[in-house]
Amino acid sequence: MRTLHLPIPPAPSRLKTRLRLARRLVSFAVVFAGLPSLTHAEDGERLAGQLCAACHGVHGHSESPIFPRLSAQTPEYLTAQLKGFRDHARGETDARSYMWAIASQLDDATIASLADYYAHQEPVHGTPGDAALLAKGQDLFEHGAPDRGTPACASCHGEQGQGNGTFPRLAGQHHEYLQRQIEVFSNGTRANAPVMTAIAHSLDADEAKAVAAWLESR
Ligand code: HEC
Ligand code: HEC
Repeated sequence: MRTLHLPIPPAPSRLKTRLRLARRLVSFAVVFAGLPSLTHAEDGERLAGQLCAACHGVHGHSESPIFPRLSAQTPEYLTAQLKGFRDHARGETDARSYMWAIASQLDDATIASLADYYAHQEPVHGTPGDAALLAKGQDLFEHGAPDRGTPACASCHGEQGQGNGTFPRLAGQHHEYLQRQIEVFSNGTRANAPVMTAIAHSLDADEAKAVAAWLESR
């Protein structure tokens, strides 16, 4: 008799994340299939509730680290990213899989309305974690690493990571998402932001982890 080789089941926490993701994707498919092709400007708040909330959460307060939080993000950055997905300028794997098709349906007026909606939602404030890790992250954020020429993150992203124009808000964001972005800037798959590519490249894994943890705790 032949032995059946079953794949090793994923660890419970990963399985839970996958199930949650699968459920979201199903609800997303249902919502997306039910939408007429968006050939005219849509009201941002309505579209956010009907479509974006399935992944990014109600008011942009996403719970899963796969999906970035959008609440209180700067309108300039939101607009630039949605256009970047639409033009295929922002092309890391998750952006391609999730955002390219959606952004292709959005005209400029709809993008402006969505950006305005999310910019006006209350920010999420994370919970503090390991004090030593957070202190290391805060130091890097506020002072950079002068010996390597890494500038202070605060000089662009704002004193508290609140963002400023085209420099995105980072405060309150899922640390897993932040770390993933540092990684895709560094390995060149999110290639349309040369400033961040160079900065991300200068960070080691421990620094990326520390600064992401500090930012989420804001
Ligand atoms: C099926 C899930 C899904 C839906 C629905 C969805 N998104 Fe996304 N979105 C993602 C994922 C995943 C990412 C992160 C991509 C990455 O990690 O590179 C993302 C990224 C983004 C970003 C970039 C955020 C940042 O901090 O850089 C913006 C802006 C965004 N989405 C807006 C929207 C808007 C507006 C809608 C509704 C019109 C929407 N998304 C619908 C999954 C989704
Ligand atoms: C010279 C200005 C500048 C400095 C300094 C800077 N950044 Fe950025 N950062 C940017 C810009 C601009 C973007 C948006 C890139 C884009 O449009 O895709 C960005 C994007 C990001 C993102 C992606 C956010 C998202 O929602 O997807 C992360 C994470 C990030 N920066 C982390 C850092 C960290 C950590 C530091 C300090 C070590 C830092 N940045 C220093 C300009 C800067």
